[in-house]
Amino acid sequence: MSTISYIKNILTDPDIASITPTSKWGVRNICQSIDFNSRNVVIEYGPGTGVFTKYLHSKLTPESKVILIEKNKNFVTILKDAFKHHPNVFIYRESAETVNDLLKECEEKCANYVLSGIPFSFFDDQLRDRIVSNTYSVLDDGGVFLPYQTFFQKDEHLKEYLLNYFEEVEDQYYLFNLPPMRTYMATKRVRLH
Ligand SMILES: C[S@@+](CC[C@H](N)C(=O)[O-])C[C@H]1O[C@@H](n2cnc3c(N)ncnc32)[C@H](O)[C@@H]1O
Repeated sequence: MSTISYIKNILTDPDIASITPTSKWGVRNICQSIDFNSRNVVIEYGPGTGVFTKYLHSKLTPESKVILIEKNKNFVTILKDAFKHHPNVFIYRESAETVNDLLKECEEKCANYVLSGIPFSFFDDQLRDRIVSNTYSVLDDGGVFLPYQTFFQKDEHLKEYLLNYFEEVEDQYYLFNLPPMRTYMATKRVRLH
């Protein structure tokens, strides 16, 4: 069902950048660094039809919030229908760079995690820089940015921007997905000495 939605929508919206959602193994792999025992504010850029959102919602504590920022109108309709009975899931048809305003609308000061499937290699330099810088600014100290991209992504498309802002940046290749992924874990550490 989701794969059909992706194929139908990518014909008119190339920013969808994939013909199928992330595999369930990929979702678990990317979410393994999330602490599901505490209250968290989790933001997702480009949730698509909600493959990560469903997993997050099943694992997060009831007081946690999930904020979805998705540009594609048809995917937003699917998400609004899927999560209509879940008051802790907030859905916006916006672009990721508006994250600061949307976090305020949700009455939160900062986020603990930002997950992102948006295609950084499609964006120009200014947009990449704005999204990474705004993401850093909404994260709490110790907060983590978890972008996942296709495996052939070059450092100049994302890693170099992460290194410009985040104190710790790790990346790895993950093969149990079609196509394989390059995943990143960028942690904000505000040093107080
Ligand atoms: C590769 S799909 C990933 C979908 C889903 N997260 C998954 O893992 O299967 C990329 C998604 O990012 C969305 N997107 C692209 N650019 C965006 C932007 N600037 N802001 C928010 N969403 C964006 C697309 O509409 C699409 O839903």
